[in-house]
Amino acid sequence: MSCSVALPETLHAPLLCVGACTVGGLVLWLLWRLLSGFRIWVLGNGRLLSPELGRWAVVTGATDGIGKSYAEELARRGFALMLISRSQDKLDDVAKSIEEQYNVETRTIAVDFGKSDIYPKIEAGLTGLEIGVLVNNVGVSYPYPEYYLHVPDLDNFITNMINVNITSVCQMTRLVLPRMVNRSKGVILNISSASGMYPVPLLTVYSSTKAFVDFFSRGLHEEYRRQGIIVQSVLPFFVVTKMTRIKKPTLDKPTPERYVQAELTTVGLQDQTNGYFPHAVMGWFTTKLVPSFLVMFFAARMNRLQRTGYLQRRKQRELKNGLKTD
Ligand SMILES: NC(=O)c1ccc[n+]([C@@H]2O[C@H](COP(=O)([O-])OP(=O)(O)OC[C@H]3O[C@@H](n4cnc5c(N)ncnc54)[C@H](OP(=O)(O)O)[C@@H]3O)[C@@H](O)[C@H]2O)c1
Repeated sequence: MSCSVALPETLHAPLLCVGACTVGGLVLWLLWRLLSGFRIWVLGNGRLLSPELGRWAVVTGATDGIGKSYAEELARRGFALMLISRSQDKLDDVAKSIEEQYNVETRTIAVDFGKSDIYPKIEAGLTGLEIGVLVNNVGVSYPYPEYYLHVPDLDNFITNMINVNITSVCQMTRLVLPRMVNRSKGVILNISSASGMYPVPLLTVYSSTKAFVDFFSRGLHEEYRRQGIIVQSVLPFFVVTKMTRIKKPTLDKPTPERYVQAELTTVGLQDQTNGYFPHAVMGWFTTKLVPSFLVMFFAARMNRLQRTGYLQRRKQRELKNGLKTD
């Protein structure tokens, strides 16, 4: 037996209209998403980052991984490079290789971003430079995923991570942004992390510092975009670097060179970006499709497994070396 309720005929036309508008709206939205995706990931905005913004590019954490790749790619585009990192030897090597390869001027400043008294030295080193691009890249993570209270040397760990991951971004921006505002142009790229898109248990401090970088960048972009300044929040997933200890690149874990080339095409098109198409798909999936409690649950599980593996390997090493500890 079927039971149907007939709608009054007067409602047919308005309902049809609502249905057609909904379908039309969805089609337009999909088309818009496809077109903007094509604009970002296929056409890109590769020409925006040129020395017309200012002769110098400044990169923090420039001697390895993602920072080194930014330095090389910006040198390839003709920028003179100010490289800021910890070890003078490594800075000299990178500077020499960039000068030889790209025929641009380089300068270096060796500082430990874990300290908070380094900014007068950096300010002196930047005096007189016309800076078009600042890449706030320097960052540190955990030696291995760990519960907060079990992090070795927690007191110093907290100070170091906040100084490197947060203070450096705020202070470098304080030093560079005024000159960009004076010239009404400039680009600041702040390297956050996909770990800043949701809490990542057992990497909680790192994840929280990266959420700060993301919020700072987006807020600042809105404050200064009308004055010609672009501040972009960059949130990579895994990239093959010393930090991740991943050795073999795959589609979802690119080399830093590949990541940076892709990321630079998004500048001016996205204020907040995962920077690389497969990472953008992962970002969309984990923020729009999967509830955040599930993302946190699986992240915690993955990190607990990594922690167990790391501690077991460490114990085996210690036993092998005859340094048995309890
Ligand atoms: N790799 C990834 O999968 C990934 C994913 C998301 C976000 N990120 C972010 O991307 C950025 C770069 O990461 P990465 O993987 O390229 O790191 P990396 O390979 O470990 O390189 C880090 C760079 O920063 C420098 N550095 C580290 N601590 C420093 C300190 N206290 N003072 C001065 N310089 C210091 C290092 O110099 P030394 O060689 O002297 O140590 C090196 O040049 C970080 O902000 C990170 O959080 C990375």
